[in-house]
Amino acid sequence: GLPARVTVYEVGPRDGLQNEKAIVPVEVKAEFVRRLVASGLTAVETTSFVHPTWVPQLADAEALLAALPAYDGVRMPVLVPNERGLVRALDAGVREIAVFGSATETFARRNLNRTVAEQYEMFAPVVAAYRERDLPVRAYVSMCFGDPWEGDVPVPQVVEVCARMMALGATELSLGDTIGVANPGHTRALLTALAEAGVDLGAVSVHFHDTYGQALANTLEALRCGVTSVDSSAGGLGGCPYAESATGNLATEDLVWMLHGLGIETGVDLPALVATSVWMAEQLGRPSPSRTVAALAPR
Ligand code: HMG
Ligand code: MG
Repeated sequence: GLPARVTVYEVGPRDGLQNEKAIVPVEVKAEFVRRLVASGLTAVETTSFVHPTWVPQLADAEALLAALPAYDGVRMPVLVPNERGLVRALDAGVREIAVFGSATETFARRNLNRTVAEQYEMFAPVVAAYRERDLPVRAYVSMCFGDPWEGDVPVPQVVEVCARMMALGATELSLGDTIGVANPGHTRALLTALAEAGVDLGAVSVHFHDTYGQALANTLEALRCGVTSVDSSAGGLGGCPYAESATGNLATEDLVWMLHGLGIETGVDLPALVATSVWMAEQLGRPSPSRTVAALAPR
């Protein structure tokens, strides 16, 4: 069966914007987050405390957080890779963080300048610091399906990395299809293997990029497997600067259209979200790639 309610975990301000070449003014980012929250989203990944020369677009993380209120009942996680990022997150009063590991050696090197083994050492003190404060930590695993340099990524290899990330103490796991090559069969195979390895699928999110147009089909299959949390970005913005051929995330509007059509609650006001993505597309100077935004945008 399908769940009665799904958590839509919005990544637009972080994954959506991190690949934008032209720097978006911090006030536009703050307005984007405010509008996303006003549309009913209860988890909005806001920015990253990464090295500013690695991701120049998010170098204003402190200023953005300072411009935002602490909303009641809204999660505002921030990406934190290492102890330098941890200090920044604690100074900014961040209540939830996400570490982000790789299932493959090539992407671990390109995205984190570490080996797969070294990434765990880098994350361990970061996860521990938040868990000691009884605060939640999401653990991403990238390249769960395919890697642009290594090709198909074997399911047991991905399960091993997921288990290691959860063993650090993370409270939630997000399975990244960084370059959007997954299909529903591969999705089921990975989720089945994770469940067999003892991972609680109630603590798993799926994170599909939509390069091959499979993100929504994969998501539906994941829900059938027992997943109840789905990552998406408003308007389908996004891509990873360190992964060749990564396009935007599954569009939040496409996801919400499907979920509401299936009678699944999200708490999201779809017209308000569409208006936000239309506004953001104007700021970025190009139309949203989301089919649902195109269909519902006032003209
Ligand atoms: P490194 O060069 O190995 O860093 O990078 P280091 O530890 O050797 O430090 C070098 C210098 O950087 C030091 O400064 C540090 O203080 C500074 P110095 O002493 O030389 O003056 N530094 C920092 N400054 C500010 N904030 C920090 C920080 N860390 C070090 N946090 C590092 C290692 C992890 C920092 C780097 O590789 C990095 O920033 N990577 C982030 C890449 C990234 O953000 N990628 C996109 C997000 S992942 C993604 O999109 C995938 C996802 O969506 C899921 C999916 O789709 O699969 C999540
Ligand atoms: Mg991503």
